[in-house]
Amino acid sequence: MSAKNIKIDYIHHFKIVGVLGHVGVNPIYEWKGISKPWRYPKHRLNELESKSLIYWSPSGGGIPRLKRFFDEQKGVPIQSLWEDIPPVNSQALEDTKYATQKPKALLERIIKASSNEGDIVADFFCGSGTTLAVAEKLNRKWIGSDLGKFAIHTTRKRMIGVQRQLKKENKSWHAFEILNLGRYERQHYIGVNPNLREQEKQKQLEAKKKDFLNLILHAYRAEAVSQFKTFQGKKGGRLVAVGPVNLPVTRLFVEEIILECRQKHITRVDILGFEFEMGLFPNILDEAKTKGIDLAMKYIPRDVFDKRAVEKNQVVFHDVSFIEIKPHFKKNSIAVELTDFSVFYSQDAKGADESLKKNKSKVIVDKGQVVKISKDKNGIVSREVLTQNWTDWIDYWAVDFDFESKREIVRVRKEWDPDEQTRLPGMEKLQKSLETWEEVWTGDYVFENEWQSFRTKKDRSLELKSVFRKCPPGRRKIAAKVVDIFGNDTMKIVEVTVEGK
Ligand SMILES: C[S@@+](CC[C@H](N)C(=O)[O-])C[C@H]1O[C@@H](n2cnc3c(N)ncnc32)[C@H](O)[C@@H]1O
Repeated sequence: MSAKNIKIDYIHHFKIVGVLGHVGVNPIYEWKGISKPWRYPKHRLNELESKSLIYWSPSGGGIPRLKRFFDEQKGVPIQSLWEDIPPVNSQALEDTKYATQKPKALLERIIKASSNEGDIVADFFCGSGTTLAVAEKLNRKWIGSDLGKFAIHTTRKRMIGVQRQLKKENKSWHAFEILNLGRYERQHYIGVNPNLREQEKQKQLEAKKKDFLNLILHAYRAEAVSQFKTFQGKKGGRLVAVGPVNLPVTRLFVEEIILECRQKHITRVDILGFEFEMGLFPNILDEAKTKGIDLAMKYIPRDVFDKRAVEKNQVVFHDVSFIEIKPHFKKNSIAVELTDFSVFYSQDAKGADESLKKNKSKVIVDKGQVVKISKDKNGIVSREVLTQNWTDWIDYWAVDFDFESKREIVRVRKEWDPDEQTRLPGMEKLQKSLETWEEVWTGDYVFENEWQSFRTKKDRSLELKSVFRKCPPGRRKIAAKVVDIFGNDTMKIVEVTVEGK
């Protein structure tokens, strides 16, 4: 019998199998008003019926079938092909809209079969976080990683959801941390061979810098220019400056650009950067505006390192956004209210209508608004503006009530040559120096998601004011982080003083 003809009832712990045979093989007779070739003689069918082992579909009618209880069978160990767990359905509550999401039941089987409670389960390609969510529910510890920011964001929301559910059910749950581990894609454009002579090193560094600029300008669809000190490209009447590969765009960097603009009467500029110095916005934009310069700051997305995405013109340089927050005080407690989030997305929506296939829809950014375009089976295109309000751009926001309480520490490799002190000039260096590690502070702090509100598939509402949190008296920095509907995050830090002794 093919697997398709077997139905499994997990609630009642039986599966149902057919009792019909084949014409020419099994005798045809009438049983319960049904004339068919039956696999069993009539008296056996009556006996099965008297023991309630015949299954009649609850909707009535149809062909009876036989119930086989799992605990009465020896069973066979599970084989390498698992067909009994259906994939995640787009209407299912567990659906996170992550294309490669696996069903929970599948991960449950794998985790239960291969670990015990309290063990650590790891999924280094965690995607939407199914493995981690199931591991948490099955009381395992877990570690997840993924190189996609959308994956990490989806996983974060999912894990908070699981924690909240476990808390509601009075069950224990694990706290977790999200860490940013390096900028591996960018590394290729930074390091040079340390064993080269100084001149060679410089040459290699220059070549890498050029490669990096070409890559960014190509992805941004800009043309290279060489007559400027601070600009490397131009696009649609605007000059383009590319920020450093391994550092944030600083105030000094922008001030040099403003200086060149003033000297050469340049008025329209795009600055592309991986990160921007904290506190740079919005003041620097206003400053430039008063000097008649229209500055647009855009994030260089990680997908610039993905050749296929660049070739398919899928790389979007999102504009930076700003958050406004207002602290509220009550005795020695603070709450934070999100009062504004402005974003000026200006993705080029040209051609989106034509490239859309029939019966499909796509969300794009057009003239600063998020628009859903759909094409029906006759090729007729309709548009629905999804962003009516500033809050519609927000998917998640969180508050850290004491931002500078946790320094970001990284372990770095440190070479140590034990012979260095005693070695005489001209003596050979030890072939291999010892390798040790040291912990250094990056100068940044870890954002701790102490309170958060976010939208889920089921619940689209968002709270705009946090709970009140007790804080010891004195000065402190509060940070709020917003993750927008495209997965980009923006942070705002405010300094407050909590009264009291
Ligand atoms: C098939 S999905 C993961 C599904 C997930 N394990 C589950 O069980 O539902 C693959 C994930 O691997 C991530 N990925 C691909 N290459 C990676 C790498 N080198 N390091 C970390 N994550 C990577 C992708 O971003 C994607 O989210």
